[in-house]
Amino acid sequence: MSLEIRKIDAPLGAEVIGINLCNPISEDDKKTLYQAWLDNICLVFRNQNLTKDEQINVASIFGKVGERATPKKRRNEDKHGYDGTIMMVSNDRDKAGNYTGSLPDGEMWWHHDMSYRPEPHKATFLHGLEIPSHGGETQLSNMYLAYEQIPSKLKTKIINKKVLQAYDFALRGRVNLSEKGLENIQHQWQPICILHPETKRTALYVSRLISASIEGLEPTESFEILEQLYEISENRSVVYEHSWQKGDLLMWDNRCSIHARKTFPSEQRRVLRRCTVEGGPMISADAVA
Ligand SMILES: [Fe+2]
Repeated sequence: MSLEIRKIDAPLGAEVIGINLCNPISEDDKKTLYQAWLDNICLVFRNQNLTKDEQINVASIFGKVGERATPKKRRNEDKHGYDGTIMMVSNDRDKAGNYTGSLPDGEMWWHHDMSYRPEPHKATFLHGLEIPSHGGETQLSNMYLAYEQIPSKLKTKIINKKVLQAYDFALRGRVNLSEKGLENIQHQWQPICILHPETKRTALYVSRLISASIEGLEPTESFEILEQLYEISENRSVVYEHSWQKGDLLMWDNRCSIHARKTFPSEQRRVLRRCTVEGGPMISADAVA
């Protein structure tokens, strides 16, 4: 059976048919997958059954596999073969009732992974190991389309501006800078509109969970503009919603998409194995316009 890229009926995403990712992948197929990822922003592989090492091998097609941003004590993740590249997104608990993984339960607001770092990782891979009977969908938004949908009057207000990306490891709620102090939070000023280094397309680069303020604006105006940009980037017209099945591998381009998680029954187990691929600094689209 040969490889087939089948576009999903959504503003982004394609399903990859006819490949067992446990098997060796030809150089031609690797090139096809890489281009399909650039073209479609996210790829879905159904019915996979990958070991940790096999998942890392697949990720390495797309670049150097990334290390975790915060290598703090990983509780019981060692039992999953934790080596610094893997994050277990899991609501599993140990005998004492403590979560054994990361990002355990409930909704998670829209975000780019690691936009608060100087060189955010460019791709994220999630492999579904245990899936609840309902809920827990991963939503992805096409930030090329979001950029195109910004009204011209609003665009003039954000041109050449930077946005402060700050993250304090919450799943929901905006960072409270006055309470914590920026020096105590991982943060990075990033272009508000970025030039994708490979597709050369412009993408909006803000998210409700991590974008804290726009440079040079009063807090009220900054908040109002960010709120308008969130509304555009979370609109159904630019969103694909992935309903998980056990064995899915979902991967996306973290430069031109944001993602979120819907809530799910906390009494049911949800375990996903995550890894990433390193990226470079974000380039302002305005600088080359
Ligand atoms: Fe994420």
